[in-house]
Amino acid sequence: MHRTKIAGIGMYVPSNVVTNNDLLKYMDTSDEWIQERTGIKERRYAHRTEETTTTMGVEAATIAIERAGITPQDIDFIVFATLCPDYYFPGCGVLLQRAMKMKEIGALDIRNQCSGFIYALSVADQFIKTGMYKNILVVGSEKHSFGLDFSTRGRNVSVIFGDGAGAVVLQPSANPSASSGQGILSTHLHSDGESAEILAMFNPGTHANHWKPEKYADFEEAEIGEMFFSHAMIDKAQVFPNMDGPAVFKKAIIKFPEVILEALDKNGLQTSDLRLLIPHQANLRIAQFVQQKLNLRDDQVHNNIQKYGNTTAASVPIALCEAWEEGKIKEGDLICLAAFGSGFTWGSVLLRW
Ligand code: UT7
Repeated sequence: MHRTKIAGIGMYVPSNVVTNNDLLKYMDTSDEWIQERTGIKERRYAHRTEETTTTMGVEAATIAIERAGITPQDIDFIVFATLCPDYYFPGCGVLLQRAMKMKEIGALDIRNQCSGFIYALSVADQFIKTGMYKNILVVGSEKHSFGLDFSTRGRNVSVIFGDGAGAVVLQPSANPSASSGQGILSTHLHSDGESAEILAMFNPGTHANHWKPEKYADFEEAEIGEMFFSHAMIDKAQVFPNMDGPAVFKKAIIKFPEVILEALDKNGLQTSDLRLLIPHQANLRIAQFVQQKLNLRDDQVHNNIQKYGNTTAASVPIALCEAWEEGKIKEGDLICLAAFGSGFTWGSVLLRW
């Protein structure tokens, strides 16, 4: 069996910086509330017409591919994670394949929200381990700013999210057998659909009230053809993400430590062996709670939510890339990537750089 290594990494964030005070134009909030509850100071918003989830993914991928010392034509599989695709379908994978003039390779889209990049890495890892592919591009990218409720009604969600992209190129490691060898040691994926509606965007969708979410369109009154996307949904602001923040928070602080310890236990390692934990950047308070629970030093955790907000599937690769660029990660270091979010889904990846 091969082991999978990260051969190149890249990130892209739009140039437009939006501070907490900038949001006061749209909603009743405050810099103090946002910083105290989330740690966020500012986030980036993509250009409304010139940038999309895919184009940002292309920017990050271009850097990752160059750093891997290969060309887009060498990529033999794409895995693209996002919750805000350019089109409802097809997914962003094929749009990236087209934009980067890649060969007619497979392109897989992943819909696991905040855990999207962890799920994407885990899937790609299986293809490398079995020898099926040699150069897989894994991308996480989000253009949240296009689909949020910027009125006071949506403030608990909209202040949190930001736009951006991260990407890695995965290759087989040259030294797969040694336990100290470079690459992914294990991946761990979980879900609990009981809480699917706690953090969800219901419309457009085919649910037609079947699951009885608290907020939905009046399908009883809808004509055929209006079920998927209707005037009622827009009139009643049912086209935005919904979140019970405190419920997500409570579950996240249990599942984050659990899945990180699961990865360490599986490999006979301790938290003290970790050079760096890269938690999904959901909320600085969640990351601090996890750090405290696992007894990790400040230099063992990398957070950047202060600058970028929560970029969902892009947050782990952006934070990993930034930590690497800042020289916090050296060859042989033990790194844990972990995420929790909508679904609920959660997971971890333990790797040696
Ligand atoms: O990555 C995806 C997964 N998502 C998460 O991990 C999110 C996890 N949850 C959280 O991060 C936090 O729950 C939030 C940051 C979303 C909210 O913080 P909280 O401390 O749990 O606040 P809350 O929802 O309990 O709301 C407290 C108060 C409410 O007012 P009342 O009812 O006490 O008068 C809200 O209406 O804060 C109000 N509020 C705001 N006030 C100013 C909610 N959003 C805002 C806002 N500005 N943006």
